[in-house]
Amino acid sequence: MSTGARGGSGESSSYDVAVVGCGLMGAALARTLVKAGYSVVAWNRTHSRAEALAADGVVPERSLEAAFNSAPLVLACTLTPENTQEVLAPINDASGTTIAFVGSGSPESARELAQWTVARGGDYLDGVIVSYPEDIGTPQGVVVVAGDAALWSRHEPVFLELGGSSFHAGEDIGNANLLATAFSGAFIVASLASYAEGATFAHGLGLPLDGIQRMTRQGIALLATRCEEITDNIHRGHHATDQATIATFADGARKSMGVLAAYGYSNRLVAAAQENLAAAEAAGLSELAFSAQTEVLRPGG
Ligand SMILES: NC(=O)c1ccc[n+]([C@@H]2O[C@H](COP(=O)([O-])OP(=O)(O)OC[C@H]3O[C@@H](n4cnc5c(N)ncnc54)[C@H](OP(=O)(O)O)[C@@H]3O)[C@@H](O)[C@H]2O)c1
Repeated sequence: MSTGARGGSGESSSYDVAVVGCGLMGAALARTLVKAGYSVVAWNRTHSRAEALAADGVVPERSLEAAFNSAPLVLACTLTPENTQEVLAPINDASGTTIAFVGSGSPESARELAQWTVARGGDYLDGVIVSYPEDIGTPQGVVVVAGDAALWSRHEPVFLELGGSSFHAGEDIGNANLLATAFSGAFIVASLASYAEGATFAHGLGLPLDGIQRMTRQGIALLATRCEEITDNIHRGHHATDQATIATFADGARKSMGVLAAYGYSNRLVAAAQENLAAAEAAGLSELAFSAQTEVLRPGG
């Protein structure tokens, strides 16, 4: 918790956390930590955005070096990891400091920032925020964090304050980004895109709102169960089913593709799903569960 913020620009201040990058997300991180009782100093390339946080109790700092050197934990939330590397370039000594880049990066950028930090005597955690700024500071907020387990334990209270559902994704520094690729990037984006396809079709045909909402709720409940089943099946390597086979899903996808196209609507997302299912059928997996398509989704599959 707070070590007690003292003074502002230019003084030898001591804060719990320095936030580097005060855009929409960085500002939410800084405000949330202050609300939770942490002392927070903030630096932003465009100083006015850091200054705007003063009313919320965040201490704006014009000098990057001063902000960096005044807190044991530096949360970097610039647009890209490259921005953070550029911004931190003047820092030669990071001993006693943990840097956590929590913007959107990649496993490679996580490794680069970790190497950069360790070369300067500091420690590095890599984070991925899987929430909107308005979810920061709520039980639903999530920061996925990868890196040394002891380092995670030391800073865990800060991450749990930023998002009550935050968790440690393992010691491999690339893990937070790999999980984000699999689930935020691939699953959520594709799911929302296919929902947009279906919702556009339903709205365009003037289908009743009540029916759309009922089907949406039912679909989300079904996803919750079926996604867990897919993960379990893939982990067990077991794809037998007495419920619904790849052949049944492929048939449904082909019919939906045809109807959407006949009415002149986009069917690109369902076509992509059908392509995977057709590949599974061609591989002789027709009578197995939806999860069996994992066999044709691997490298070389
Ligand atoms: N907003 C969300 O819902 C959300 C959700 C999850 C993750 N994220 C991630 O959080 C990160 C920040 O997003 P945001 O929504 O806060 O974006 P934003 O509002 O556009 O803010 C971007 C931040 O990056 C800084 N920046 C950009 N280019 C820079 C450069 N060349 N050198 C130094 N600083 C630079 C900006 O500084 P200036 O003010 O000087 O331009 C600002 O602080 C991104 O990686 C984003 O993917 C955002």
